[in-house]
Amino acid sequence: MSLFNYAVAKTIMHVPKPIVSYFAKGYIAGSTLADAVQVSKDLNRQGMMTTIDILGEFITQFDQAIEFKNQALEILRTIDREKLNGNLSIKPTQMGLLLDPERCFELIHELVSEAKKLGSFVRIDMEDVGTTDATLEMFDKLRWEFPGHVGTVLQSYLRRTPQDIANHADGYQNYRLCKGIYVEPRIHAWKNTQAINGNFSNCLAQMLEQGAYAAIATHDEFLVFEAMHLVRKMNLTADQYEFQMLLGVDEELREIILAGGHRLRIYVPYGRDWLPYSRRRLKENPSIAQHALKQMLGI
Ligand code: FDA
Repeated sequence: MSLFNYAVAKTIMHVPKPIVSYFAKGYIAGSTLADAVQVSKDLNRQGMMTTIDILGEFITQFDQAIEFKNQALEILRTIDREKLNGNLSIKPTQMGLLLDPERCFELIHELVSEAKKLGSFVRIDMEDVGTTDATLEMFDKLRWEFPGHVGTVLQSYLRRTPQDIANHADGYQNYRLCKGIYVEPRIHAWKNTQAINGNFSNCLAQMLEQGAYAAIATHDEFLVFEAMHLVRKMNLTADQYEFQMLLGVDEELREIILAGGHRLRIYVPYGRDWLPYSRRRLKENPSIAQHALKQMLGI
């Protein structure tokens, strides 16, 4: 990590809560599931799909995992009841991966079973590199039992990703591809922007050529351009892939993607545990803190 990035990372952890809270408003649907439903309905009306995520990660008591699993079940049932064009995203450490991997698998298995029953889908988010093997192992077991109802995430900053794609070349494959948001040691992760971007485009081509369904999750205009070029070159129909973006980021790019006839899904997080999520977003894009502060102060 460069000295500058290190300084930013350290400082962001101490940004006062009111500033983080002000900044968080645009990125988080609200504190309740009803807020996430309202935001999803609005996005659906504008032609976008959603994936709903309850904020929370790296829990310390297994009871919390059960509580999160129950809330995730409620999300799936609410999506069904409200007829939303949406699905569920979950985090393995929210379901107790670091406390008890077997019980974590049981909870996620229950969620994916429910998703199958409702004709829905669960995306297992990818967290830091310490959880990559365990997350892919869970996905590998679930993809054979629930094809069409489960997917996971691969990160282009990880050097291992092309191998992970190759390891799952057989059978059903469904990935969200993103750059990756955690601060990882260089031994595991590319640090050079062009290397991360090059790996993103190569991995996307590799997974699509292997027959995977790909969710292309980026706000990087160049990567969006490259992905659009690739899907056209491969003659894919619009239901063989989708673009994904985070709530509150670059609404113009949303319009560009939709106008091109592509499908777009917005990640809609909600919940009371917004502080770590927002600090991560701030760490990733520190200029936002400056904009939020200026707006707050009216300058
Ligand atoms: P990049 O960071 O270069 O951003 C491109 C442009 O978009 C920038 O110029 C900036 O202006 C704008 N931008 C990007 N992020 C912004 C933000 N937060 N606020 C305002 N502007 C912003 N990661 C992970 O490790 N595991 C996961 O499971 C997921 N899941 C996931 C789902 C979805 C739907 C998305 C879009 C992203 C993720 N990510 C993730 C996060 C991802 O790894 C990555 O950190 C961010 O998407 C930022 O990378 P970009 O590709 O957007 O490029």
